[in-house]
Amino acid sequence: MVHKSTVIVGGGGRESALKYVLEAEGHKADVISDGQSALDFIKDDTPDLVIFGSEVALVEGYADAIRAKGIAVCGPSKQAAQLEGSKAFAEAFMDRHGITRPASTVVTPDSIDSYALPAASTIVLKADGLAGGKGVVLPESDEEAAATLKEMFSGVRNAGAGKDCVVVQERLSGPEVSVFALTDGSDFVILPYTQDHKRLKDGDKGPNTGGMGAYAPADILVNTEQREKIEAIIEATISGMRAEGMEYRGVLYVGIMLARERDDEPVVIEYNVRFGDPEAQVLLPMMHRAGVDIYELLASTDSTIEPSGVAKMTELKTSALTACLASKGYPESSEKGVVIHGIDAAYPNTDVFFGAVMEEDGVYTTNGGRVLYVTGYGETIDSAAQHAYAAIGDEAIHFDGMQYRTDIAWQIRS
Ligand code: AMP
Ligand code: GLY
Repeated sequence: MVHKSTVIVGGGGRESALKYVLEAEGHKADVISDGQSALDFIKDDTPDLVIFGSEVALVEGYADAIRAKGIAVCGPSKQAAQLEGSKAFAEAFMDRHGITRPASTVVTPDSIDSYALPAASTIVLKADGLAGGKGVVLPESDEEAAATLKEMFSGVRNAGAGKDCVVVQERLSGPEVSVFALTDGSDFVILPYTQDHKRLKDGDKGPNTGGMGAYAPADILVNTEQREKIEAIIEATISGMRAEGMEYRGVLYVGIMLARERDDEPVVIEYNVRFGDPEAQVLLPMMHRAGVDIYELLASTDSTIEPSGVAKMTELKTSALTACLASKGYPESSEKGVVIHGIDAAYPNTDVFFGAVMEEDGVYTTNGGRVLYVTGYGETIDSAAQHAYAAIGDEAIHFDGMQYRTDIAWQIRS
C-alpha cells in the first residue's frame, strides 16, 4: 500500500474517527484545529490530501485556498458551502430545484412588522448563518417564539447568526435519517444511512445538543420508495449545484425527515457540507471494518468518484453504535479538568474516540462538552449496543458528572 499524508481540519470526535481510520489504513494523519492553522501547516509540509471535518473552515473558503496550492481537498468551495452556511440560500436553492422541504418563509428585521408569526407549536425558527448548533429553535410558546426571533435579529447568537434573516419553517415530525453522499461534483456514492440522537436525555427528552449518539446502518428505517426519493434528492442537489456553477465536491450531508404530515415522504430538514458528528464515529470505522478504502474514497471527491465501493457497503455485515459521554452541565456549559477513569483498559469490539480530552502524564481529563464517544461493533445493532455499553460505567469508562444516553438506537433495538 502507498502511504499518504493527510491533514484533517477540525477538532472533535469526528476528526478523531477520521484520523483513526486513516492511520489504520497506514497513512499519516495530522488533525489541525482551523483553516488558517491548516494553511500555515501546509507551508512546511505538503500533504496528499486535506480533509475538512468541520464546516467553519469551508464556509470561510479554506478549501479554495488549499486547492489553489495544487493540493487535493475533500470539501466544497466557499460558494458551495453556502448550502450549510446560509439557511436562506439553502431554502431558495431547494425551491429552484423542486427539492421537497418544509414550507418556509424568510423574514428580515424590515419585513417582520408585516408578518404574522404562526402559532409556536407549528413552526421552527432557523437563524441564517453558522450558529454552532444553536441556530434552530422549536419554540414551546408564542412568547418564546417572539423572544427568540427578537434575539436572533439582535445578533447575540453565535457570530451574529440570524441578524439579517431568519427562516420560519413549518414544523414536521417523524424519524430523522442522516444521509451522506461523497461526490466529485457529478457522480456520487451514498454511504449507509445513519441516525443521530439530538436530545440530551433518554426518550428524546431534554435540550437539543450537537448529538448524543448514533448508529449505522439505519437503512431499515427507510423503504424502497423512500430510498428512491432520497437518491433523487441527492442527485437533484448535486446536479443543481453544478448547473448553477457551484460544483459541489466533498461530503454532502442531507438531514432527512420521513414526515408523518406528508405520508412519510422524505423531506430535507437541513444540508451540511461535511460528515456528521457523531455519525462519523460509527460510519467511518464500520466502513473500514468492511474493507472500504476510506482514503481512496475521500481523495476521489477531488478527482473522479468510482462508485465501485458501493457494492461492498451494501453487503456490510457489521453494525456500529456510538454513545457520547458528555460533561456535567452540557449543553449549557461544560466542566473541564475532571479525571476520566477506565480509558486505558481494553474493551472487546469497541473503540473510544476523543472529543474533548486532555492528556498529561498518562492522566486523562475532560476538556469540553462532548468528551468521549464509545463506539461498539457487532453483527447486529443489539450486539453493537451491548459492546458499547459494556465499556461505560463505574467498572469501565466513567467520570464525575458524566451524562450519556442509554437508549441509542431505540427505534430499532429489540
Ligand atoms: P439542525 O441544528 O439544523 O441540525 O437542526 C436540529 C434539529 O431540529 C433537527 O435534527 C430536527 O430534529 C429539528 N428540526 C429542524 N427543522 C425542523 C422542522 N422543520 N420540523 C421539525 N423539526 C425540525
Ligand atoms: N450530528 C449532527 C451534525 O453533525 O450536524
